[in-house]
Formats: sequence, C-alpha cells, structure tokens
Amino acid sequence: MSRPDLVNTFRERIAGGLISAPLAGTSDPPWYRLLAGEGINAFWTEMTTADGLLRGGRKTRAMLTQEPGRPTDPPRPLPRLYPDLGVPVVCQLFGHLPEAFAFAARFVELCGYDALDLNFGCPAQKVVRSGNGVALMRDPPLALEIASATLESTSLPVTAKLRLGFASDPRIFLRLAAELDGMGITALTLHPRTREDGFSGRSDWSAITELVGAVRCPVIGNGDVKAPEDARRMLESTGCHAVMVGRAFIREPWQARRMAQMLRGEEVRPEADWTGRVEWTRRHGLLLAGFYGEKRAMFKVRRFALHYLRGVEGAGELRRRMAVVADLAEFERLLDEALAL
Ligand SMILES: Cc1cc2nc3c(=O)[nH]c(=O)nc-3n(C[C@H](O)[C@H](O)[C@H](O)COP(=O)(O)O)c2cc1C
Repeated sequence: MSRPDLVNTFRERIAGGLISAPLAGTSDPPWYRLLAGEGINAFWTEMTTADGLLRGGRKTRAMLTQEPGRPTDPPRPLPRLYPDLGVPVVCQLFGHLPEAFAFAARFVELCGYDALDLNFGCPAQKVVRSGNGVALMRDPPLALEIASATLESTSLPVTAKLRLGFASDPRIFLRLAAELDGMGITALTLHPRTREDGFSGRSDWSAITELVGAVRCPVIGNGDVKAPEDARRMLESTGCHAVMVGRAFIREPWQARRMAQMLRGEEVRPEADWTGRVEWTRRHGLLLAGFYGEKRAMFKVRRFALHYLRGVEGAGELRRRMAVVADLAEFERLLDEALAL
C-alpha cells in the first residue's frame, strides 16, 4: 500500500477509539497481549533509541524485533508483527540525530510495525540532557529535520507526541504542530503539560481543543484519563480523534475494556472484583514469564501486583510478599492464597 492508503487506514482504525500509551518499562509484547481483546484500537511501544539503533546496539535491535526467534538485523521485510492482536502497533523512537531516525525508520518498517511515532515530549532528565524528547521542542528546526528525515525514509504513517513546551513558553506546541501538520504528519498526540510540570497538577485539556482547531491532521488527546467517563469527556469536549491512556492502565488494566465500552456507547461492565484483580495479576505474570523468562518476569510483575492487588482486608500483607516474589511457584501460591481473602 502507498503511504496515503496506509495513513487513511491507520486514521480510520483509531478514530473515536482508545490507545494504549507509550510506557517505558511497561508497553511491551506481554502488555499488548494482556490488553488484547479489551477494546484497544492501537498500542504504542515504549520509546526506543533511534541513535542507539544506528550505532548497532544489539539490545536495542532485539527490543524492536521483539519476538524470540526473529532476526535482530532484518535484511528483508519481516512478516507483520503481532497479527494476532488485530490492531496497529506503533513503534515510538526517541533521539536527536536525523540520520539515526532515517535509519531507524527503515528498520522499523522492515520489522513489520504499522506506524512510527516521534517522541518530542519525554521530560526525563537523562533523556532531555542529551537533547532528546521534549528538548526537541526547544529546537523546532531540528525536530522538523528529524520528522522530514523520517517521512522520507519510510512509507509507514508517521506520528509525533508532544507536550505543551516549557514553563517559559507553553505554546511552542502550536507552532511545532502547525509545521509538522504542513509536512504531512499522520497524527499528533498532545499531553498538555509543560516539561517542568512533569506529571504534577492537571493536564490542560483546553490545549487539546486548541490544537484540534489549529491543524488538519487528527489529534490524539492524552492526560489524566482515569475512568470511562473521563475518556468520553475528553473525546467530546476537545473534539480529539482518539484518546490515549497511560497510568490508569498501569494501575487498573481492566479499565481499558470499560473505557472502550463507554466510547462505543455500550453498557460499561463493573470494576474488577477481588477475584478479577487476582486473575489479572496471574495473567500478566504468566505473559511476562513466557516472554522474559521466570527471573526477569517475577522482578517485573512485582510493580504491577502492587497496583492490582488492592481493596480487601489482608491485601497489604499479600502485597508485601508479592514485592519480593522471585519464582513462578511462589507467585502462583500467593495468588491461590489471595483468592481465599
Ligand atoms: C512509567 C511511564 C513511562 C512512560 N514512558 C513513555 C515513553 O516511553 N514515551 C512517551 O512518549 N511517553 C511516556 N510516558 C508518558 C505517557 O505516555 C503519557 O503521556 C502520560 O503518562 C500522560 O498520560 P496518562 O495521564 O494517561 O498517564 C510514560 C509515562 C509513565 C508514567
């Protein structure tokens, strides 16, 4: 398919829908499978370094080719990634070298992703210090050079994720967005906080409304959507094309189905009860183990278990034991015991 066809198809597939946000340390293949079937319209990968990819970092390449057994240096296009999910997976890249993005864009296309996202919003100190993430909003010419190098190197849809800008200039997003729109970007995500805000305060949804009115491309709204009603309110009040959710899914992944139901105008099913919370924990742990192996999976699942396992008497003690769980047998035993609480 040509880019215009791919772009139209991509835009249609996310229209009015729910997107799983890029989440470093969280949005990985087990995550997509955990939420598959919950009504998500697209998954964004965690951010991957374009510059590292160009340098030939094997870990970075393996992170992108993802599935065990796939070549980490594809000489030819690989089959599409995750056909079982039935929804697009968008690979997010960060970096600051246009030539790295050009290389990475070709690489990502060979790997079988459905689209590519440029990270212009990450506020983390170690990312910004090297001129990446939101630092690029201070240097619009470089951000545009990166977007242009990417667009020229792939026929995949290319999107970008922005913050407002900086406390000293919280309207940079409008200027940068207008330029990106003019270049033919497929969609823009706005997390309406400044770099200095980090995650504090409330995201300013009025900036999403403003952006919707200022560009032709679809705008994906993001920030502080915690419950089904928030998702609907964001879509309706800002006129955005789709809603992207991050932290609420880390805490309560069952909210995905509830939000999707709300957006589709269906009856919203109840919150997960205790048994549901235990089974979400089990499923996530097993998916992580299948992908990362037991040791790494148990380390990773602790963080999620601390969120999922809440709400009944005795849950505190269970979480304390989960916080140090080291093997699958112990993990399963704790969850079996949890069902009796
Ligand atoms: C743990 C964590 C990791 C994140 N990783 C990324 C990332 O890799 N790329 C990115 O663009 N944003 C990242 N974000 C930001 C989220 O994608 C999202 O913009 C932000 O959390 C606001 O949405 P929310 O209120 O729904 O969480 C991350 C946020 C969190 C909490």
